[in-house]
Formats: sequence, C-alpha cells, structure tokens
Amino acid sequence: MKIIDIYKQFKELKKEITVIGRVRSNRQGKAVSFLVLDDGTYAKDLQIVYKPETKGFNEFLETRVGAIVSIKGLIVETPNRPQPFEISASEVLLLDNCAEEYPLQKKEHTMEYLREIPQLRARAKTFQSTFRIRSAASFAIHEYFVKNNFVYVHTPIITENDAEGAGEAFVVTTRKDAKYDQDFFGKKASLTVSGQLNAEALAQAFNSVYTFGPTFRAENSHTNRHASEFWMVEPELAFSDLNDDIQVIEGLIKHVIKYVLENNLEDLKYCESFYEEGLVDRLSKISNDNFEKVTYTEAIDILIKASKKVKFEESKIEFGIDLATEHERYICEKHFKKPVFVTDYPKEIKSFYMKLNDDGKTVAATDLLVPGIGELVGGSQREDSYDNLIKRCNELKINPEDLKWYIDLRKFGYFKSAGFGLGFERLVMYLTGAKNIRDVIPFPRTPKNLLF
Ligand code: 4AD
Ligand code: MG
Repeated sequence: MKIIDIYKQFKELKKEITVIGRVRSNRQGKAVSFLVLDDGTYAKDLQIVYKPETKGFNEFLETRVGAIVSIKGLIVETPNRPQPFEISASEVLLLDNCAEEYPLQKKEHTMEYLREIPQLRARAKTFQSTFRIRSAASFAIHEYFVKNNFVYVHTPIITENDAEGAGEAFVVTTRKDAKYDQDFFGKKASLTVSGQLNAEALAQAFNSVYTFGPTFRAENSHTNRHASEFWMVEPELAFSDLNDDIQVIEGLIKHVIKYVLENNLEDLKYCESFYEEGLVDRLSKISNDNFEKVTYTEAIDILIKASKKVKFEESKIEFGIDLATEHERYICEKHFKKPVFVTDYPKEIKSFYMKLNDDGKTVAATDLLVPGIGELVGGSQREDSYDNLIKRCNELKINPEDLKWYIDLRKFGYFKSAGFGLGFERLVMYLTGAKNIRDVIPFPRTPKNLLF
C-alpha cells in the first residue's frame, strides 16, 4: 500500500498490510525499535515499531537512513501520541541498503547545500511537499480551463519569433559560425520566450485556448524570482477585452488555491511550518476575497503620496516610469495588502501587441501584483487594428515583415482578443511561501547555474 492510502483508511484497515518505502530514521533499541518510513506520497511519514522477535530482525540490523525496505504489519491506533496510528510490524525486510555517505542524513541542511544536489533533494520533506503542490496546482490549472471550455494547445518550443521583442531568446543552432541561413532550419531559430503569438492564432480557431509549457529567457536577472527556464500558463480569449481577461486571471488563481487547500492541506501545513507562519490562513483569505484593481496612473499617485513617508531607492516617481520591484511591493503589500491588478500602463514601457487605449498614451494591459512576490501575471487586450500594430512595430524597431503572419490575423476576421501569462513557478512560490524560485522547480536553471 501507499502511505497516503494508509493515512486515508487507517481506521478501517484491520488486516495486515505491506508497504515499501525509504527509511528516514531507524532507531534500534534492546526491546523495541522505531522506524520512520517515507514513500513520497504524503506529507506525513509512517511510524513503524518492530522488535527482536519480528521476522527478519537480524538481517535488518544494518539498515541505514535512505535504505529501501518492505514492512508487513498491523495498524495500531495511538490516540495519545502525535501520530494517530503506527504499524506494529510482523516482518521487516531490507530490500536495498543505502551507502553511509548518503548526503541526506537526519540533520537539517541549508537550502544552498540542497540546491547543489537537485537529484536527491526532492526526497527531503520541504521539497516533497513543494513538488506535490506543484503537481496539484498544475492539475488544477487544467481543470479550471477544461471546466471553462478552453482548448489546451501546444505551442512550439523552437520558434522564429521573439514574442516579447526583448531580445532575450536563447539561439538554437547546429552551427559554430552563426551562419543561420545555412543552419538547420535555414534561418535563425530560438527557444520560445512565450507561446502567446502562436496561441493568439489558435484562439481565432477555438475561441478560448491556453498553452502551459516551458519558456526560456536569457535575461541576466539575479533575483529570487527569475529563472532562465520557467513554465508559463498562457490563455488567449477571442472576442474578449481586458476586463474578461482580469476575470479569468482571478478565477484561475482562486480555483488553484481552493484545489490545493482541499487536496494538499498536509503539504501546505508542512510548508507553513518551514516557510511561512499563517500560510494556510493567508491562502484561504485570498481565495475568498476580491482582488483590487487600480490604474497605473492611480498607482503612481499612491506612490507619490507614499514617498513623503517612505524612502524608495528609485525616488523618481512620475507617469512613464517602469515600476520597480519596491514600488510594486509597496502597492500590494503595504497599501492594499492583497493582490492588485494594475492596468493601463504607458505604451512606452509595454509590448508592441498591446491595445492602445483611446487616450493614445496608455495600453489595455494589466500586471497582477501579489504580496511577497510582486508580478505574478502579465496580460493585455491585444491590438486589433492592423494599422496601429504596424505603427507600433515601427516605433519599437520591430520589422513588421518578420511578423506578417501574426499581423495579418487582423485581416482575416478578427474581433477583440485578450490573454495573459502566469509564471507558474511564481504561483508555486505564492502557494508554498517558498522564498526562492530555485526551490520550486526540481532542476532550476539560472545564470551560471545548470546542474544535470
Ligand atoms: O510579463 P511577461 O513577460 O508576459 C509575457 O510573456 C506575455 N507574452 C504573456 C501573455 O500575455 N501571453 O511574462 C508573464 C509572466 C510574468 O508575470 C512572470 O510571472 C513570469 O511570466 N515570468 C517569469 N517567471 C520566472 N522567471 C522569469 N525569468 C520570468 N519572466 C516572466
Ligand atoms: Mg511582465
């Protein structure tokens, strides 16, 4: 049996069970011995009691932390102990011992040390809980979209477009000389920074679509919220505007939070004990409370007022600036103390594909800022005017010819479209309270860091 099922059914399980798992600790005593077993399925370990007369005892004496063992026994309820039951073993069997130099001994390790051994750290409780929550959140995302009639589309990983136009793409080549016209695809190819442009094309075929896959950015950001390879959820809604977009963002995040609260409570409690006091309460509150909404212009006013009392490193605050992390955090953490949609940014600081508002100065874009993280989502209504799109490309020195296929979508029957990108690792940080993006993805990739 798996440990999660034993926990679910222990009150009814009257017959002998067999469980295979990895030893977390093995404390052998003269009269009784205690074994703590983990099989990766649940946030709680299995407590096992065995004795010298237990079958297999003598062959079990060398069993070390990390070994794989098989245990047969009966469930005994233990209402007066921290754990509700334990297994009274009738047979203990060492299946494969673990070398003495096993790096994950009982003592606590620093997160820095654990990052050096990504092939093993997933066995540690914090990472098990985090990655199970990651798995559950990923399922909940699919569930939300399926329930809302979105089609899951797979946009390409190798692409010829740099959707964000920020020049942060990793080049894909088989040549040493950068002669891309003679390269594998006969042109310059790169790893995708966003599936958006392809998803936009598909939204015109299916109304609402989403892509959820890995994206790659060669940006030299050394923060705890940037990874060079991260997963992004990118829905695209045809016939929709920015307000529809905002509703989906809020609906999606609340759905995921509710799902993990319901299905991964023990994992969340473990994360609460390790990362963040009050985590479970925080999540319950977010899932039941409305997110805030302000325009960029209002946010600037709030920051100007605040700057009379608080000192910002970036002290020049006026319409047109790109909000710095400290500004974003002030808005959501100090001012509103909840998730905040900031909308209608100046066009100069946003991407070419965002719809120009009637004021001619701002675009119908939104960033969702959340306490502890900052930007969790970036989205917008897409520019639907063919002429405006060409104009914006030219202003931003993007050759419209390179994006003809995309811009031409506006000619072949096109009505409002909106979408967003949610950084999945940042969502997992938000759900678990993890402080570093490198601890929410099993094998993280960041500048100067690529292990296995
Ligand atoms: O704001 P971004 O760059 O938006 C886009 O890529 C749009 N094409 C999305 C769309 O409309 N379909 O990225 C979206 C989100 C950010 O809000 C952030 O959460 C996450 O992706 N993100 C990163 N996460 C981890 N590491 C990085 N280097 C990230 N860059 C962006
Ligand atoms: Mg963004």
